[in-house]
Amino acid sequence: MFRFMNLKQTLSLSAAALFSVAAAAQRLPLYLDDGAPMEQRVEDALSRMTLEEKTAMVHAQSKFSSPGVARLGIPEVWCTDGPHGIRPEVLWDEWEQAAWSNDSCTAFPALTCLAATWNTDMARLYGKSIGEEARYRNKSVLLGPGVNICRTPLNGRNFEYMGEDPYLTSRMAVPYVEGVQSNGVAACVKHFALNDQEMNRFTSNVIVDDRALYEIYLPAFKAAVQEGHAWCIMGSYNLYKDQHCCHNQYLLNDILKGEWGFDGVVVSDWGGTHDTGEAIQNGLDIEYGTWTNGLSSGTRNAYDSYYLTQPYLDRIKKGEVDTTQLDDKVRRILRLSLRTTMDRRRPFGSIATPEHFEAARRIAEEGIVLLKNSGGVLPLDVSKVKKVAVIGENAVKMMTVGGGSSSLKTRHETVPLEGLRKRLEGVAEVAYARGYVGDAGGEYDGVVTGQDLAESRTAEALMAEAVALARESDCVLFFGGLNKSPHQDCEDTDRTGLELPYGQDALIGALAAANPNLVVVNISGNPVAMPWVDQVPAIIQGWYLGSEAGDALAAVITGDVNPSGRLPFTFPVRLEDVGAHSAGDYPGRKRQDEDIWDVHYNEGLYVGYRWSDRHDIKPLFPFGHGLSYTRFDYGTATLSKSELAEDDTVTLSVPVTNTGQVAGAEVVQLYIRDVKSALPRPVKELKGFQKVTLAPGETGTVTFTIDKSALSYFDDVAHKWVAEPGKFEAWVAASATDIRQKVTFTLK
Ligand code: BGC
Repeated sequence: MFRFMNLKQTLSLSAAALFSVAAAAQRLPLYLDDGAPMEQRVEDALSRMTLEEKTAMVHAQSKFSSPGVARLGIPEVWCTDGPHGIRPEVLWDEWEQAAWSNDSCTAFPALTCLAATWNTDMARLYGKSIGEEARYRNKSVLLGPGVNICRTPLNGRNFEYMGEDPYLTSRMAVPYVEGVQSNGVAACVKHFALNDQEMNRFTSNVIVDDRALYEIYLPAFKAAVQEGHAWCIMGSYNLYKDQHCCHNQYLLNDILKGEWGFDGVVVSDWGGTHDTGEAIQNGLDIEYGTWTNGLSSGTRNAYDSYYLTQPYLDRIKKGEVDTTQLDDKVRRILRLSLRTTMDRRRPFGSIATPEHFEAARRIAEEGIVLLKNSGGVLPLDVSKVKKVAVIGENAVKMMTVGGGSSSLKTRHETVPLEGLRKRLEGVAEVAYARGYVGDAGGEYDGVVTGQDLAESRTAEALMAEAVALARESDCVLFFGGLNKSPHQDCEDTDRTGLELPYGQDALIGALAAANPNLVVVNISGNPVAMPWVDQVPAIIQGWYLGSEAGDALAAVITGDVNPSGRLPFTFPVRLEDVGAHSAGDYPGRKRQDEDIWDVHYNEGLYVGYRWSDRHDIKPLFPFGHGLSYTRFDYGTATLSKSELAEDDTVTLSVPVTNTGQVAGAEVVQLYIRDVKSALPRPVKELKGFQKVTLAPGETGTVTFTIDKSALSYFDDVAHKWVAEPGKFEAWVAASATDIRQKVTFTLK
């Protein structure tokens, strides 16, 4: 065939066609021919496999991998955490370090920070960059992103998620997934579903109505699957309808694989499988981590005792089940391999590159939120300030180690004090006082920060030193908040209250009295109470910012970067202002004779600002809030039409002008209000946002397209999304409580 083609024709052949021709020439088996349709390749591979080879594929062989078929050259599946960087290698059967020296990564900011950018381009950049690192380390699956909804600010894992709103989380999850998968690495969206607290995470049984399930807790998973085409999803530890979510008929078979048509792989969370029969029938495809060290049960090889190994094989051999489910599981795993390790065209990846650190810094800078700034304390006037007091443990504590499975071993991490000293070198003296002691540790699963934060002085002595330093300085930058140790922002435990730990409230009060130029930088992945809010002129929400934390914070504090982050969740004044704590159950109620905790989500749809709106509660800082060093004025919002038919769309445009002195970015938010509906609905719901960067004096026009999906609610009786005819309002806003314009239209 080649003989009759000219050069141009040859070159214009796609790589796939070329390979297909080559494959045919070499008589490669169909499953290895990447010019052939995927489903044909899957069927071909499946038809060559023995029963034992198939059952081997549906459970782990080590802490983070499951077997391929060595005889056929079908690769193993290798997973890595996720979701903020690539986890260092652990031993084959243990969580302990394998002590490799080539596995340090770029630590990207925590997903809360990514969500706070309100910039989908940042989510794509994040996904692409972390995917490149996973690819370089030869992983098939990246265990992320996490898209559980922030129902309570006590959830120890909120820092790994993207806030309280299903629309914001969905919009950020889709490009993250696409970015990761553009590297031929599967994104594994987690934890499906309703894993909204860490306390009793293995024994909580969530009771939630269908409206809240479909409108609040599922949309981000659905978007990741249907729009982002995620190749993998992780079941969660908790139960729903009395079934563990890793083998849950309703969530996995009915909704994920049924209603949404998911054709990828469901993996269990590590140790989330509990029953062979349910694991066979209820949608689980690969069982991971059933015993913590992989070897504590079974005489020969504990992996053979997994629920989906020998017990499964035995049931098939005894004729108790046929291989229908097994074939379906293996088809999905083969699809995953064809999309990842067996895709000869996938890129090669790269790790800890200058580009990745640069991406981490950009995301960090864009996610930092300026919560309060009165009296012009910020940005720091570098032409005037001669002595800066930096106070607080979080100014020096490395935050990339700790917090559970997202803990990282990064090539470098700049802490805030370092970032400020670098930026202010030759400009001002930067003096440091610890102020308080939180957690002086710096180790997780054998990865150590190498920092020595031991401190033997009393709390009084530390406070006295900090106050004295505050008095003699021109301004005070306090870095406090939470950290990644248990009962802070940490997997497996929840926080014990909304307040700041380690006596920080008293310290902040004393610093405010000592120096009026006080900036509080709160490092956390959760809202915290701020009883001192009126005494402190400037407050920054600093998240966990990853490798470039110190430089990013210094850039925002000095005004090199104009802050443009917005809160992805509400900061409540008190815990009782949160629906889950006022109407719902938290942490749940233990059943009398069973170790199961029923958690009733009585607050239903009313999570975050939906709860504050409904009960007219003024938050400490609202969802969507964030200040800038410039000002933005909104012009008149106009609609392309005032009436629309059911499958029609309407366009809303609003001019926004930067009326200040410096360039900056505004996040224009669109909330929709259904004026009258048959079923109760939230006062308003986020249905659009856009970040627009403007030079001083510049005007930009922001345009939103509103379609049926923005107007619909989930009718739990009819079990479908419904857009009810009638009047709707589009609210153009700068935050959930800063509504700039309202326009009305009618759905016919
Ligand atoms: C966590 C997952 C993580 C897995 C593997 C589990 O304990 O819940 O998020 O991906 O461990 O480390």
